[in-house]
Amino acid sequence: MNTNKLSASELMELENNFGAHNYHPLPVVLERGEGVYVWDVDGKRYYDFLSAYSAVNQGHCHPKIISALIEQAKKLTLTSRAFYNSQLGKYEEYVTRYFGYDKVLPMNTGAEAVETAIKLCRKWSYEKKGLAENTAQIVVCENNFHGRTTTIVSFSIDPEAKNHYGPFTPGFIVIPYNNSAALEKVLNENPSIAGFLLEPIQGEAGVFVPDEGYLKKCYELCKQHNALFIADEVQTGIARTGQLLACDYEGVRPDILILGKALSGGTCPVSAVLSDNEIMEVIHPGQHGSTFGGNPIAATVAIAALEVIKNEKLAENAFRLGKIFRKEMQAYCGQSKIASFVRGKGLLNALVINNQEHKDLAWDICLKLRENGLLAKPTHTNIIRFAPPLVITEEQLHECIGIIKQTIQTFE
Ligand SMILES: Cc1ncc(COP(=O)(O)O)c(C=O)c1O
Repeated sequence: MNTNKLSASELMELENNFGAHNYHPLPVVLERGEGVYVWDVDGKRYYDFLSAYSAVNQGHCHPKIISALIEQAKKLTLTSRAFYNSQLGKYEEYVTRYFGYDKVLPMNTGAEAVETAIKLCRKWSYEKKGLAENTAQIVVCENNFHGRTTTIVSFSIDPEAKNHYGPFTPGFIVIPYNNSAALEKVLNENPSIAGFLLEPIQGEAGVFVPDEGYLKKCYELCKQHNALFIADEVQTGIARTGQLLACDYEGVRPDILILGKALSGGTCPVSAVLSDNEIMEVIHPGQHGSTFGGNPIAATVAIAALEVIKNEKLAENAFRLGKIFRKEMQAYCGQSKIASFVRGKGLLNALVINNQEHKDLAWDICLKLRENGLLAKPTHTNIIRFAPPLVITEEQLHECIGIIKQTIQTFE
């Protein structure tokens, strides 16, 4: 088949015929991106309000990140960790200073970084905390989303993510989110808790922001019980929520910090686990790794991606524009029958749709938004996440709020 000039429907058909059906994409075929915009194969332009699940915080194809990628790709792409490479050490120094930790362990995807954090926490608990071998428990939260590996879905409560993938990995205790008393109880009752793993805002669950003080209280409880506080900031980190990290809102410094997604500005899979020597030193050569983790392209691109965040003050922009977004949308919700409320922090927000009369309403709104030039995706049938690249300007944001209101209006 001549694949040069295929139509959008032909391209969708190819994915449908030859790809596993593990996603249900909105019917739009994208070909190009720049800043807050993406274009489909027919040249129609859209505002991207998903940002590849917060991986493209710096905007699509940021010129500084792309230039770093291309220059490094021309020189050296992969050495494996069997050898040193000219970029990794520089990145490791940069990223640890940037986030204020002694050491980093570089991986690729978010799920791999979460797996790494789990292994690190368990090993620390045996070698430093003194738990008996194979007894470590890690506390996690209901409605968590930490990725798709067998171990990670073992502690998911989402049947879609979990069913028929067993047998599952033991060693996890699930407690309600946003409930520090539940954490306190489990810590008091169980002497083999190695750590507490959580998202500081639950992204995939529908942007659940916990009460103020929750993170701090949980951190203090972990300290009292010598358990590690592990923050999965794969989605919330790197300026998305209006601070560099969502934990910064409460002045909490996680014992283990997990990053991914925007660490490469959406150009390639780059993830990281950060901690201090006391924890990271339990891992020795041969005990953990990845062929691609810490590759020269990833290392170079991650420095560029983090520089863009600082130089362009993207956390500040997300903080300021997020307030405008929620204020405007909340005002709309006040007089709407179908838009119930908006919640979020910075530019990670969700609009909750009243779909009692029409189950697929959120999906239909997203189809209409697409027609009107804005891309967003529903989650859990009645929640629409709005997370544009953080380079969006106030003027663009107002235009987008107009598109969203006008679109929902047609369903009222
Ligand atoms: C909080 C969180 N952790 C981990 C992951 C998994 O990242 P990846 O899809 O890169 O494996 C995600 C992805 O959405 C996430 O939101």
